[in-house]
Amino acid sequence: MKTEILKLDAVNPDPDKIKHAAEIIRAGGLVAFPTETVYGLGANALDAAAAQNIFTAKGRPADNPLIVHIVETSELSKLTDYIPPVAYTLMDKFWPGPLTMIFNKSEAVPGIITAGLDTVAIRMPSHPIAQALISVSGLPIAAPSANTSGKPSPTTAQHVIEDLYGKVDVIIDGGCTNVGLESTVLDVTTTPPSILRPGGITAEQLEHVLQKIDIDPTLMSQKNFDAVPRSPGMKYKHYSPKAEVIIIQGSLDKIVVEINRLAARYASEGKKVGILATEQTKSFYPSGNVIISMGDRSNPETIAASLFRDLREFDEKNCDIVLAEAVDSSGIGFAVMNRMSKAAGYNIIKV
Ligand code: TXA
Ligand code: MG
Repeated sequence: MKTEILKLDAVNPDPDKIKHAAEIIRAGGLVAFPTETVYGLGANALDAAAAQNIFTAKGRPADNPLIVHIVETSELSKLTDYIPPVAYTLMDKFWPGPLTMIFNKSEAVPGIITAGLDTVAIRMPSHPIAQALISVSGLPIAAPSANTSGKPSPTTAQHVIEDLYGKVDVIIDGGCTNVGLESTVLDVTTTPPSILRPGGITAEQLEHVLQKIDIDPTLMSQKNFDAVPRSPGMKYKHYSPKAEVIIIQGSLDKIVVEINRLAARYASEGKKVGILATEQTKSFYPSGNVIISMGDRSNPETIAASLFRDLREFDEKNCDIVLAEAVDSSGIGFAVMNRMSKAAGYNIIKV
C-alpha cells in the first residue's frame, strides 16, 4: 500500500490537508495522527471493516479492544446507553485530555471495536490535529497507539513511519507528542471507578475530584501471573525494545553502584550495554556504554515524555542489554514505572 505523509502544524493544521485525511477516514481508510499522549492509528469507529484493518496493520491480537475518540460530549449518547453521574464530573474536569473512560456500549458500536466486550472505551483528545480530524470527518474515530503491537508507543511521526509505513493510507506528521505516555483508562461502570491503566491523568488527580478510586490489583503487584487484568491490553508484554531490559530499584546511590557493576560485567561478556539514566545520574556512568537520560527526576513529566523515544533509541544503537533506573512511582511516575516494568518483562533487581 502507498503511504502518504502529511506534514501539519500542530497548533494551526492546514484545513485542506485535514479535509483530505478526513475523507480517507470516511472512505474506510487508515490515518495515523498525533494526539497529546502518543500517535494513534485511526479509522471510522462505526465501520467494522475499517476497524479490522487497524488490527491487521498493527498485528494486534483480536481480543484487545480499541479506544473511540470523540470531540463533542453529545457524541457519547450514540456510543453508550448510560452515562453515570461520575462521568459528567470527570468530563468536566479532564476532557479534552488524557483520560479514557469505560462505558456500557450501545448497539451502534461494532463488536470488533470492543473485542466482544459489552463495554466501550471513549476519550476526547486535546490535540488540535486530532480534534480537527475527528470534527471534519464527522465520525467517532477508533485509534489504538500507532505502533506495531508489542513495541513502544510512537511519540513522533518517525516512530510511526518505522512501524507502519506501507501498511496505512496516511501518516500525519505533527511533531512530538506532549505527554509521551498513553491516556489513563478508568472504568466508570463500577463504584468506585477503577483505574485499569495508569496514564496521563494521575491517580492523585482523580482522587482529588472523586475522593475514592480503585486501582486494578494487577497493576499494583509487579508480577501477578494468576490475576487477569480487566483492561485486556495490559496482559501483553509490551513497550519492548529488542534489547533485554533490567530495572534497578532502590536508593539512588545504590542504583548507580549496581548499574556500574552490571554494566562492567555485561561489557566483559562482549555485550553492548545501554543505560537508562536521569539528569541527576548520567555523569556517574562510564562513557563506553550507550547512556541516555530519560529526564529530570525533579520534573517527572520530562521522564514520561521521553521514555518511549529512549527505548526505541537503544534499538537504533543495537544495544543487547538495557540497565534502567527505577523512578519514584507517585504521580505520573506510576504510569512510567508501569510501562518500564512491562518493557522489562518485570525483570527488576532491588538494591
Ligand atoms: O492515549 C491513548 O489512549 C492512545 C491515543 C492514541 O489515544 N491510545 C491508546 O490505545 O493507547 P491502545 O489501543 O494502545 O490502548 C487501549 C487500552 C488497551 O489496554 C485496551 O485493552 C484498553 O485500552 N481498553 C479498550 N477498551 C476497553 C474496554 N472496553 N474495557 C477495558 N479496557 C479497554
Ligand atoms: Mg497501545
